[in-house]
Amino acid sequence: MSHEIRSITESDIAAFRAVLDSVARERRFLSFLEAASLDEIRAFVLNNIENGQPQFVVVDDGRIVGWCDILTNTRRTIYAHCGTLGMGLLPPWRGRGIGRTLIRQTMDAALAGGLTRIELTVREANQNAIALYKSVGFQAEGLHRNAVRIDGRYENVISMAFLADGAHAGLPS
Ligand SMILES: CC(C)(COP(=O)(O)OP(=O)(O)OC[C@H]1O[C@@H](n2cnc3c(N)ncnc32)[C@H](O)[C@@H]1OP(=O)(O)O)[C@@H](O)C(=O)NCCC(=O)NCCS
Repeated sequence: MSHEIRSITESDIAAFRAVLDSVARERRFLSFLEAASLDEIRAFVLNNIENGQPQFVVVDDGRIVGWCDILTNTRRTIYAHCGTLGMGLLPPWRGRGIGRTLIRQTMDAALAGGLTRIELTVREANQNAIALYKSVGFQAEGLHRNAVRIDGRYENVISMAFLADGAHAGLPS
């Protein structure tokens, strides 16, 4: 399977939502259990395109099979240098190096756009994702105990961040 990674376009919106929904319904990885409505996703994506927020999709044989975005909703605040990363691939496209290429490309775009801190949260059991994030320079910053409750069971969540300049002010080295 060959694939291409490119910025999302308006015509991708329904297919992007389908991938988001599919990964959400696996229940193991994301913070939501199904995608928002098509109207909500449309407004979200169009806003990202309009504001130049990095949002990439993986396309294989014309089909969208994954995404990665780094979004900031805080442009006029003291957090304007921060973006929040989210990503996912459909199961057949996992474990083949696509995620690494995808996250690097999206991080490059975010850094080129002026962000200097990229943050994310990841469920503690998602060791594949945690390994990927560490391998591209993210560091764990905090453990959120019992932050998730799903099907009556609690899970911890880890917050991680990548700093563009490597300056971890206030944190022990
Ligand atoms: C997390 C995810 C995006 C990673 O993408 P991927 O294409 O599967 O990852 P890659 O093949 O590029 O692997 C990159 C690194 O991730 C880690 N990794 C990925 N799959 C792994 C696996 N099955 N076992 C162990 N490590 C794994 C490794 O560190 C790997 O580096 P290596 O190949 O040098 O050992 C993908 O697996 C996915 O979509 N998972 C479900 C959704 C999800 O978890 N999203 C993130 C929510 S926070």
